[in-house]
Amino acid sequence: MTGGQHAGTDAATRAHFTARATQYSGGSEASLQAMLELASPRPGERALDVATGTGLVLFALAGRVGPGGLAVGVDFTPAMLAEAARRPSAPGGAGPGGAGPGPQPGAALIAAHATQLPFRPGSFDVVTCRFAVHHFSDPGAGLGAMVEALRPGGRLVIADFICPEDPAAAELQDRLERLRGHVYVQIFTQSRLQEMLAAAGCPVRAVRPSAREMRPQEWLASPNVSPESRVALAELINGLTEHGGTGSRQAGLEVRRVDGEVRLVRTDAVLLGIKSG
Ligand SMILES: C[S@@+](CC[C@H](N)C(=O)[O-])C[C@H]1O[C@@H](n2cnc3c(N)ncnc32)[C@H](O)[C@@H]1O
Repeated sequence: MTGGQHAGTDAATRAHFTARATQYSGGSEASLQAMLELASPRPGERALDVATGTGLVLFALAGRVGPGGLAVGVDFTPAMLAEAARRPSAPGGAGPGGAGPGPQPGAALIAAHATQLPFRPGSFDVVTCRFAVHHFSDPGAGLGAMVEALRPGGRLVIADFICPEDPAAAELQDRLERLRGHVYVQIFTQSRLQEMLAAAGCPVRAVRPSAREMRPQEWLASPNVSPESRVALAELINGLTEHGGTGSRQAGLEVRRVDGEVRLVRTDAVLLGIKSG
């Protein structure tokens, strides 16, 4: 991708999240718990959450590192950061989980691009990034910047969608995701993500699968899906779920039936890399 293409892709990503910031409900609790388990942030440590969005991972990190530590969230979409600052568990947020009026010591929200993190090399013990690498216009540079921000021996925890290794299955997953209105650059296989972390200087030491159950009926009802896409999406979902769901494995999904309703289960990957050196 050229620099101009990067700028165009980033602008489209920012526009996408600007339009959705107030409704953004974020990733799954299971992925958050897996990230915390692998990152094991301790009181007094310095933690950075890249592409923090509305701050769901950041606030959990802030709670673990405590007032003697530091938790910083970075994102390049101002509307997502504004939403993070407004939410109840935000630093200084007014809701039940919040710290009450006034800034909470040791936590911050900063507007920055993932490839241009405004920190000195080696500033953090822990760096996290959830459900964002597939939105990056230059994922290698984004991961490189995260590793640079870590101290040697520091922990990098990446959670993201993964795509099936089989190219035909990956293509089907891409078709499904785009029909349901998911805007992104590229979903990687788990092995490719592992290679990219190793190339950035953070070999992967542990991987946790994180399952998320989704309701296809909600995709079909979403206002983000155009009428033409809705017809194609319904056909694709039927193809996945008929014959007891045997077709679903083609798109990396498992079919479950709960109270007579079809659910599709996606398994994401949570990776722990340790910075060499
Ligand atoms: C799906 S949201 C995930 C938010 C959060 N990590 C979570 O788990 O809830 C993706 C976020 O990545 C941000 N993002 C995408 N590309 C970025 C980049 N190159 N630099 C900084 N933020 C980026 C978007 O603005 C958006 O807030």
